[in-house]
Amino acid sequence: MAVPATVVEENPLFAGLRLERTPEPSALVIFGASGDLAHRKLIPALYNLARDGFLPQRYSVVGVARTEMNDDAFRETVRGGVEKHSRNGNFQPEIWDNFAQHLFYVSIPSYSDPAGFKALRARLDELDTQQGTEGNRLFYLATPPQVAHDIIRNLRPEHMGTPVLSGAWRRIIVEKPFGQDLQSAGDLNDVLLTAFGEDSVYRIDHYLGKETVQNIMVFRFANAIFEPIWNRRYIDNVQITVAETVGVEGRGGYYDQSGALRDIIQNHALQLLAVTAMDPPVAFDARSVRDEKVKVLRSIPPLEPLAAASRTVRGQYGHGVIHGRQVIGYREEKGVPPDSTTETYVALRLDVDTWRWAGVPFYLRTGKHLPKRVTEIAIEFKMPPLMLFPEATTGGVRPNQLVMNIQPNEGISLRFEAKVPGQVMHVRPVSMDFRYGTSFAREQREAYERLLLDAMLGDATLFTRNDEVEAQWRIIQPILEGWQDTAPPQEYPSGSWGPPNADAFLENEGRRWRRP
Ligand code: BG6
Repeated sequence: MAVPATVVEENPLFAGLRLERTPEPSALVIFGASGDLAHRKLIPALYNLARDGFLPQRYSVVGVARTEMNDDAFRETVRGGVEKHSRNGNFQPEIWDNFAQHLFYVSIPSYSDPAGFKALRARLDELDTQQGTEGNRLFYLATPPQVAHDIIRNLRPEHMGTPVLSGAWRRIIVEKPFGQDLQSAGDLNDVLLTAFGEDSVYRIDHYLGKETVQNIMVFRFANAIFEPIWNRRYIDNVQITVAETVGVEGRGGYYDQSGALRDIIQNHALQLLAVTAMDPPVAFDARSVRDEKVKVLRSIPPLEPLAAASRTVRGQYGHGVIHGRQVIGYREEKGVPPDSTTETYVALRLDVDTWRWAGVPFYLRTGKHLPKRVTEIAIEFKMPPLMLFPEATTGGVRPNQLVMNIQPNEGISLRFEAKVPGQVMHVRPVSMDFRYGTSFAREQREAYERLLLDAMLGDATLFTRNDEVEAQWRIIQPILEGWQDTAPPQEYPSGSWGPPNADAFLENEGRRWRRP
């Protein structure tokens, strides 16, 4: 059953939210401009924003990388990425020609040498005059973590200068991975906060830019009927799944140092948990929303390292079949050592020790080379207190389930029991579904479009704060430590739902994983 979208009266919590504002004139400086992220996501997102009229009249995008190249060569190298990855593959040459006029390139051979930054500063000053960007600068760190400290130090005012025009701003977006562990994340925060104030730092987690993730907050706080049951009295457990069919996609070198726990759980999955479990913020602004998320993260008791083995499951994909195609195992991937013990699958239980959630387990799982691409949050409710309909005729009543489908079939479904028409009291689960595609005849914007625009507008609501990222690492750190002394990950065939231990893990808790 499709539920039509209706216009709801303005909710005071969301009052004052920006409508479609245009940012001030500015220069966006992308470090790591020759990398995969810039080519596949960032430049195409900027092109889409330009095409849809969201960028200011006066802007420039300055790519920075080590390779020598002039502006024209840079435009040519990124054009292919835009043709391939712009939303809907909707590449329009006339829009591109105009957009390309705003693209520039500066090479910095060594990020540790302030000389390169002086040259960058001179180029930006020149572009301010030519393009009218008024000294506003948004830096984007899309570089490997090893060079982040050098770049940030060289972006300090003593190297890059302070804004000449009063009111001009400098902001910085930092890509994940945000550190490798609690210590390195803290160090990165220190370096960042010495060069920029927290208000100017935008730590990106692209999941927060997804429409469906933002809709969790709207679903919860712009409706009155769900909040009263959103707690331990009605909810039995929550299952958060981030399942991917892809493997490491040529990023073996990075991934082997990271693994599924750092790559997905530390950031995307914990953000999904925080948005699902948070209390209503007092306003929909950066401070209030992040205060509530931090409260949730801080109320998750970190596992004891010794409990890491029994409270988590680790797996690594072997070869197998996905969508009918033979695929190789993780240890055969390029850049991965043949004896790697990095996990490509993790499942774990976390508890949120608050009055709202005490005793409700949050099960998180993620994996690569699983049979289906799906990201979802399934809320499983408690069983009715009394069973009026005999098991023999009902075939067993199942608990109600509310599933927020983040991707790919964006929507929300509610599973409940209904009577099968007929003489006997047969009961069967049915589903009430909301689908974005059906209810809104509107194309969804890419997460990076939303987040780049928010950073240009100075809205940090959908970015992670320093205390938030450290709270996330505090949950992850003891698991990393505990794993050092335990058995390596269990192999699972590509195309299966993870290692056999994963099922046993939930069965021991008297529950079963949802099969999306
Ligand atoms: C990235 C991870 O942050 O998220 C990747 O590094 C992962 O390994 C990706 O594939 C998943 O993002 P999405 O938007 O495709 O779900």
